[in-house]
Amino acid sequence: MNPMVGDGSLMNHKDHKDHKARTGRRQHCRTWLLRALCVLCGSFLAISASVVAQTTPSAGNAQNGRKLFAADGCYQCHGYEAQGATPTGPRLGPKPIAFAQFSKYVRQPTGQMPPYTSKVVPDAALADIYAFLQSLPLPPPADSIAALR
Ligand code: HEC
Repeated sequence: MNPMVGDGSLMNHKDHKDHKARTGRRQHCRTWLLRALCVLCGSFLAISASVVAQTTPSAGNAQNGRKLFAADGCYQCHGYEAQGATPTGPRLGPKPIAFAQFSKYVRQPTGQMPPYTSKVVPDAALADIYAFLQSLPLPPPADSIAALR
């Protein structure tokens, strides 16, 4: 018998046990690594969420937005209450589209609407107009209207 093979098989058996112990430990480590990664990803998501949150207006002034909506001429096509008018412009609120989409559209419209640069309507004014659109009341539910019951 080749002593190398004999030794080898003995060693292998022992190694196998060691290997089990080691993989066990390794799996343990992997679990911890995963947990650490989750924590890292979690905080990364939290950070990116707060970055995204900053791009949405938090301090928009709805009352000023209502004035700007008139002064900047939005009302001419969208109506004073942003309710929309079929031939001139769609309804914009309540529940406006996401702010990122909203501001992109005002700056770079793709249809018949004229573009508004940040010189004409600064970002702060846009945030106010957006706040105004968000502040618009929802229509009452149909079953709260006596004539519809
Ligand atoms: C000359 C008419 C006109 C004026 C003025 C105008 N819009 Fe529009 N707007 C439109 C029309 C028409 C559309 C529909 C898409 C298109 O053809 O561009 C539209 C679409 C939009 C949309 C996209 C709505 C959606 O659901 O995708 C937003 C947001 C918007 N307008 C905001 C504004 C704001 C804010 C102002 C004022 C700063 C303004 N518009 C002024 C005509 C106008």
